[in-house]
Amino acid sequence: MDAPQRILITAGPTHEPIDAVRYIGNRSSGRLGVSLADAAAARGWPTTLLLGPAHLQPAESSLLRTFRFQTAADLQRLLHEHWPEHDVLIMAAAVADYRPAPGAQRHSRDHRPKTPRQDQPITIELEPTPDLLADLSSITRPDQRVIGFALEPAERMLESARAKLSRKRLNAIVANPLETMDAETITATLILADGREIAAPTALSKRDFAEWLLDRVTAIISGR
Ligand code: CTP
Repeated sequence: MDAPQRILITAGPTHEPIDAVRYIGNRSSGRLGVSLADAAAARGWPTTLLLGPAHLQPAESSLLRTFRFQTAADLQRLLHEHWPEHDVLIMAAAVADYRPAPGAQRHSRDHRPKTPRQDQPITIELEPTPDLLADLSSITRPDQRVIGFALEPAERMLESARAKLSRKRLNAIVANPLETMDAETITATLILADGREIAAPTALSKRDFAEWLLDRVTAIISGR
């Protein structure tokens, strides 16, 4: 029987507003993160799901709490609020790397009117979002474990994922080819901080992959 782990999972895309009605988003469905949350709660682990603007909902469970976010900044606030009372973070959210810069439009981020149509091309200036995982490393305790995701072009998947694992100071990273986003199945390799690479069985459903990954999380926590 696994020891219950207090697990924090992020899932889904971010939406970064351009104006009152438009946003920059991505195709993440949130399905894998929601499957992870369902599977963790079903194992008896107290689970917190931070879920972006996706259509999915996790199953009802007394062990599962869900908080919603829209933007990378919302998610950053939720992570700072909830991470201290958890043992494990699985960062499956597809966080935007850039967002419209507020200064360029002369309006605050939350009060942009709808941009009127015009015949000239327009330019949207983007600014980088903070790297949420790197930012969290300053408040992460040695007893906590952090698992990230890396969605990469297949030909340099492992190399890029290894670089992110060390740059973001993670305990492990799940390397996926780009095709995984929005797909029914997942092909993935888990890379551990000690250099081990563990390939998941190929083309698992996201539900089966969630169970496989939680088994690996249990092994990581117990030092195996
Ligand atoms: N991530 C994050 N903050 C961001 C962007 C990504 O914490 N602003 C997290 C993701 O949730 C994921 C991991 O970092 O767990 C890797 O995300 P990815 O988009 O692959 O990496 P980037 O750091 O954005 O690098 P690049 O865009 O150069 O591939």
